[in-house]
Amino acid sequence: MNDMSLPPATVARAPSASTQEILHRDGRPVPPSYAREDYRFLGDADIPFARYIDQAFFDREMRDVWGRTWQWACREEHIPEAGDWIVYDIGDTSVLVVRGNDNVVRAHINSCTHRGTKIFDSGASGSTRELRCRFHGWTWDLAGELKRVPSHWDAPHACAATHNLASVRVALWGGFVFINLDDGAPPLEDYLAPLIAHCDRYLFENRYIESHIEKELNCNWKAALEAFLENYHTQETHPQLLPANADEATQYDILSPIVTRFITANGVSSPHLAQALDEEMLIETSLVGARDMVDPALLKVGPGETARVVLVRVMRDILGRVYRADFSDYSDTEVIDVNHFYAFPSMMLLPGLSLPALYRIRPLGNDPNKSLFELIMLRECPSGGPRPEPAEPIRITETQSYAEAGLDPFLAEIYDQDTLNLRAQQEGFRTSRKPGQTLLNYQEVRVRQLHLTVDRYLEGVSRPWANDAGE
Ligand code: FES
Ligand SMILES: [Fe+2]
Repeated sequence: MNDMSLPPATVARAPSASTQEILHRDGRPVPPSYAREDYRFLGDADIPFARYIDQAFFDREMRDVWGRTWQWACREEHIPEAGDWIVYDIGDTSVLVVRGNDNVVRAHINSCTHRGTKIFDSGASGSTRELRCRFHGWTWDLAGELKRVPSHWDAPHACAATHNLASVRVALWGGFVFINLDDGAPPLEDYLAPLIAHCDRYLFENRYIESHIEKELNCNWKAALEAFLENYHTQETHPQLLPANADEATQYDILSPIVTRFITANGVSSPHLAQALDEEMLIETSLVGARDMVDPALLKVGPGETARVVLVRVMRDILGRVYRADFSDYSDTEVIDVNHFYAFPSMMLLPGLSLPALYRIRPLGNDPNKSLFELIMLRECPSGGPRPEPAEPIRITETQSYAEAGLDPFLAEIYDQDTLNLRAQQEGFRTSRKPGQTLLNYQEVRVRQLHLTVDRYLEGVSRPWANDAGE
């Protein structure tokens, strides 16, 4: 389309108020991280559908992307004591994450050095004093050093120098245990630098897994990620959000080829709504289901106050009481808005208090048409008292609703709507007579960045951020 009345692609912006305008309109301090914008035009070529359905392309991704990038394998809270272990799988690769007697977290390839048997089952976790293969009993210490071979007289060629478990790199940040299958990959701190800069202050190590749902999806891993990288689909897919979500105003930031972000304001009507709600109605609509928890005094709208300011006051009060934590350090946008960070390839972090979620999205097995989406609520630990145990994951199939796993019905409906889209999209990739998908310049820029970063890894680049200004 070459309509000369349209703005040039490089400055594409919605005609409605921007997120920055909404944040500043509140008249309250906006933290520096949320007061900045980092958009740049990344091109407008179509993205070939073959990238989502072609087995050979998928196999290259498994080797060159998933085999060389940092992925969070578990939380430290999953393995708090010496001897605690958990298995993390990606494609054919199974990784055993173990806390040693020296309290150091290590990872080993989950395969016996005798005849290859998986030492622990996929999806399993537990506690042990030593790592022992079920087949013939070869045994290693928690650091992966070979300790015992039954009938060792018959295998003098097997010793610690040759038959230790293969180690996998581990790095820690914010209570997350990251692994990288590439011994030569740059350090995690470089890889995650913008995420650490923006999110270190949330002290994720002081949060715990309140709930954990594993959902099987009938779509390619990138399609699953893409559904959460943009807010463009809200007006069509999730119309129930429009009364109090400024979807089209959502701000998209490319912080690096690895880390991107969006900020979407709640407590403001969508410009797609025929008639915007007034401030009173915004408050009423936003409090549905929580009305009886609210102290009426907090609802008084002061002079010049927006619905957002009132809602922030109410949410801070409710959340503080329910979760017995002090949220006074959180600015308004961090309380009410959806601030969504993505760290390539699998991690999505929403540090805000209204939806303190953590997503992990990765291929399921070796099928380009399947992925696993994990939806975790990562709550602040209550101040004082013991740290809560992390919730056990609840696995649901593609056709089961999130409500069956106990998710709040309002949220469950939203995620169920996404599931249906993803199934239809993956099927549509296969029947399309158009070679690829077309992306919007601004609202889908994070989708494009995802593909650019995949391409960099497929080209063999190990620091895709190194060409950025300042690197
Ligand atoms: S295969 Fe593991 S001990 Fe033999
Ligand atoms: Fe969605």
